[in-house]
Amino acid sequence: MTATTLPTPADLSITPRDRRFGRDAATPRLWHGGRVEATAIYNALSATFPIGEAYFVESVRKFREGAPPKLAEEIKGFTTQEAIHSREHDAFNKRAADAGYDLSKLEQRVSERLAITKDRPPIVNVAATMALEHFTAILAHQLLANPRHLEGAEAETADLWRWHAVEEIEHKGVAYDTWLYATRDWPRFKRWKVKAKVMLLVTRNFLVDRTAGSLELMRQDGVTGLKAWSLLLTYLWVRPGMFRKIAGAWLSYFLPAFHPWNVDDRHLLGAYAQIASGTEPKRKVRRAA
Ligand SMILES: [Fe+2]
Ligand SMILES: [Fe+2]
Repeated sequence: MTATTLPTPADLSITPRDRRFGRDAATPRLWHGGRVEATAIYNALSATFPIGEAYFVESVRKFREGAPPKLAEEIKGFTTQEAIHSREHDAFNKRAADAGYDLSKLEQRVSERLAITKDRPPIVNVAATMALEHFTAILAHQLLANPRHLEGAEAETADLWRWHAVEEIEHKGVAYDTWLYATRDWPRFKRWKVKAKVMLLVTRNFLVDRTAGSLELMRQDGVTGLKAWSLLLTYLWVRPGMFRKIAGAWLSYFLPAFHPWNVDDRHLLGAYAQIASGTEPKRKVRRAA
């Protein structure tokens, strides 16, 4: 399969938006509507981004050289967007620390998980990246499609999450297309097997680690035991039920004809164009790659 036959839209634009959030005022500790469990899961996700996204950038960038020009250009857009996301979530995590949370245990866990892949062939890192990028893309889709997820959240922090979601949708096919290009000589079944195996592993770790991370942050708010479990599981799986709502999209990853752009959800970006571009004067974004 060549880059020209991929389902990635020909007119797709991956536009890094160099936005800054929350620099002018402290973020309230329970910024998500005063809710311990809602704040905890978003904070737990944010704790993973600076380390995780740097890993995505490193994994995909290795395959840029020699890639078809369109893919090489998309990789450039992807790595630049992720570098800015890391910067903004790093700043957000510092504000969470200022509000009294200790994220160090959560960050350490991410580093430990990623260390496992360190000595594996570079293509394994691309497989892990594309699995996690599918996760971020379907979470982003759900976040933008259903305003309930950020209902009650502090305005600027909600904007940070929507801005991130917009760019995750824009670049959702890049790691996947990099994988398709890098494994173009592999037999179909081997491709599917590695992709599916890595996704299952990534999913297990994602669910276990984000749940543990959220419970740890809830513990820091004094909520523990059965009460913590029931608040968190209800929030994730019932109402608003983010994890339940992405289950179908998650499953589609295992279809032999799967591609992130089989679902063109760019209509979601339009509604948030203003948030995503901001009111700041456009500055030239230094390319990260
Ligand atoms: Fe990102
Ligand atoms: Fe991403």
